[in-house]
Amino acid sequence: MTRPLRILTVIGARPQIIKAAAMSRAIATYAKGRIVESLLHTGQHYDANMSQVFFDELGIPSADINLNVGSGGHGAMTARMIEGIEQVLLKKEHDLVLLYGDTNSTLAGAVAAAKLHVPVAHVEAGLRSFNKRMPEEVNRIVCDHCSTWLFCPTDTAVANLRREGFTGANDKKPSADLPHVVQCGDVMYDNSLYFASIAKERSTILNAFGLRENGFVLVTVHRDNNTDDPQRLNDIFRTLLELHARHGLDFVLPVHPRTRKMMDTLLAADVKVTLKNSARFLLVPPAGFLDMIALESGARLVITDSGGVQKEAYFFGKPGVVLRPETEWVELVQHGQAILADADPARISAGFEGFLRDGIPAVAPLFGDGHAAERICDELIRSW
Ligand code: UD1
Ligand code: UDP
Repeated sequence: MTRPLRILTVIGARPQIIKAAAMSRAIATYAKGRIVESLLHTGQHYDANMSQVFFDELGIPSADINLNVGSGGHGAMTARMIEGIEQVLLKKEHDLVLLYGDTNSTLAGAVAAAKLHVPVAHVEAGLRSFNKRMPEEVNRIVCDHCSTWLFCPTDTAVANLRREGFTGANDKKPSADLPHVVQCGDVMYDNSLYFASIAKERSTILNAFGLRENGFVLVTVHRDNNTDDPQRLNDIFRTLLELHARHGLDFVLPVHPRTRKMMDTLLAADVKVTLKNSARFLLVPPAGFLDMIALESGARLVITDSGGVQKEAYFFGKPGVVLRPETEWVELVQHGQAILADADPARISAGFEGFLRDGIPAVAPLFGDGHAAERICDELIRSW
């Protein structure tokens, strides 16, 4: 190789900004001089506490380009992103496009790059919920099928791809028609290990909210099928409030902007009143990642519908009650670290009380060894 590999990383939503920190760190240190990275932010998330905070605290270089697409319907938002990414790729300054996860920003990057024959590297490839009513399932399937490198966090993800016909002929030159499939581990495990001690030093969130170690429950809710369905949203909040009243634990819920909006519109009057009267059921703004790690590692238990938070609960040894009917991270359930409760009050309560009583079994690492990003760099340098 005569010159460094030039990567265009496309990010836009909170979880992928955080994931990008692991790769940007590896590119700047481990692959220094061998890979150069430009960052394109689509602008899908734009509130300071959904975007800028992560650049400020996680050492991610500033975005070279921001498309500022903002919010909107799936079609309008994704179309604006595709148009903007295409303009950048037409300059032919990048050898490949690096994408994370399953958001509309991921989909837009995949479609724009594939149509211009720019190779795509997909981090978090092969995850499946087998539920195409999730916008994320559609996004990740399209992205995987446009990719030249499929970086899988788990063996399950590799098996999912094999079922879809990806043979992973890794000894041949990769292409969109013959992509490489690599089980590299989870870049978010890299990040959780790396930032845990930094969070311990810097985060003051437990003190700020008067939270005691193991004396509170951390909750996040933002998945559209929970926030936008009045029955599910009210069932979830009623159940959380009942558990809060029954168990004497504080509850802390950093509220995603989508959820904030839908709570205002869809929560029943009695639920709003109970929330207001429950002084230690804390609705707080979206947290920075260091604060989030402090909350996850200090919590007694985590209740969430987030993909990332499910796993981080496990990284920090906390049981997870998952407010979804299924998960892409099946290992968590198989190894007794989390249960799937959907938005069902009985299952949420039973899962919560079971974990309070029994805790979770010890388990060997499920998501790699904390060096996923280096492995991705190695594979890209070796085979591009
Ligand atoms: C998106 C992803 C989802 C991911 C989540 C992470 C898609 C289809 N969904 O969902 O997979 O789990 O991000 O958080 O890409 N809003 C603000 N300020 C912001 C961002 C959003 O107020 O900075 C509000 C707007 O009202 C917006 C709504 O949140 O309409 C939803 O945002 P959007 O990016 O469409 O989807 P998310 O629910 O955030
Ligand atoms: N996160 C955060 N602050 C919050 C909520 C989540 O920093 O208030 C982090 C969380 O630790 C994880 C990532 O955001 O790393 C997960 O993103 P999110 O739940 O928004 O999306 P998902 O993972 O479900 O796509």
